[in-house]
Amino acid sequence: MSAQIILEPNLYQGVRKPVDEAETLPTTSYYSEEFYKAEVDKLFMKVWNFVGRDDCVPKPGDYFTIDFAGVPIILTRDQSNRVRAFANTCRHRGCQIVEGSGNSKALVCPYHGWTYGLSGELLAAPEMQLTKNFDRGDYGLKPIRLETWEGFLFVNFDPAAGSLMEYLGDLPERLRSYNFADMKMTRRKEYMLACNWKIYVENAMEAYHVPMVHMKTLHKQRRETPPPVPSKGNWVGLYVKHKGSRALLDGDVGFPPIKTLEGMAAEGSHYPLIYPSTMFGCTTDCMWWLELHPQGPEKTKLIVGSCFPKETVARDDFDEVVERYYKRWDISIPEDNAISELQQKGIRSPLASAGRLSHMEPLVHSIANWTLDKVLGGR
Ligand code: FES
Ligand SMILES: [Fe+2]
Repeated sequence: MSAQIILEPNLYQGVRKPVDEAETLPTTSYYSEEFYKAEVDKLFMKVWNFVGRDDCVPKPGDYFTIDFAGVPIILTRDQSNRVRAFANTCRHRGCQIVEGSGNSKALVCPYHGWTYGLSGELLAAPEMQLTKNFDRGDYGLKPIRLETWEGFLFVNFDPAAGSLMEYLGDLPERLRSYNFADMKMTRRKEYMLACNWKIYVENAMEAYHVPMVHMKTLHKQRRETPPPVPSKGNWVGLYVKHKGSRALLDGDVGFPPIKTLEGMAAEGSHYPLIYPSTMFGCTTDCMWWLELHPQGPEKTKLIVGSCFPKETVARDDFDEVVERYYKRWDISIPEDNAISELQQKGIRSPLASAGRLSHMEPLVHSIANWTLDKVLGGR
């Protein structure tokens, strides 16, 4: 299907109906190259994208790399302790400069040795002395806009976009009492998934699948149908009232609650989706996140991070007890990964067609419509 045809709003009339009358997105939205390209150009390149936490780079000289929607990025902590983001592309002839993560005074391009500081400046460019009108000051790494909220890092590729705080709306206030700034990231784990990013986001934001997909693990936890919470800004969320922690399997005992929790946060768990592709699980003793980096229409990197209050991390029994939390995530998340890849296989069929939604999937409808608003340019 050509780009012009796939972006024809009439194709999406069924999705635009009220949720109890609506259809799901056309199946092509989950694998077409043209639809994916429109998502990258009109959505991922325009919004604030979550890329991790500032303690991914705890010390000056630390850096790590990601590939976000086809853009190789380096995140650094420079010598003045500032976290920065740059295009991971050499200003000489475009080679990708570094891979993975590390700590270094300088980033050296492996092709011809152009050398950059962690603030992006070009420190050395061998054999360029005969090149006319070449000023090293003009060839630093290309900076990418980066803003933080309570230690969480977001990048935006659009110089004209508003601030991160405008983007997040009332989410920071709603989650204020978790005191994320006083948390420490304790683990970051990556998975590569053979599915479209929306398949995974939709799964994370409905509890309808829990009794089947998490039959042996979480089925007692989320049998209820939490209603979406009211939200202002580019997020939607679920809230479940419960006792104890939702980051443990039944029967496991964990850490004491976060001391600063107030109101709803003290009595249950918040599950916000920060559009487009980051989910937080905020429970009474910790938070975890699911961060998606689209890599193609049918390929998505999932990063699962977890944070606990610094006071909890300082406990003598932290390393032993935290394994119970990791066990819960290491069982339940692969269950979601497997069902998402299976859904991708089925939806890919030429015989697949749009489906209908239960009363337990209002956010699947919201996600589809938010995406269409961006990709098709509003209603
Ligand atoms: S491409 Fe990086 S130094 Fe030549
Ligand atoms: Fe799940």
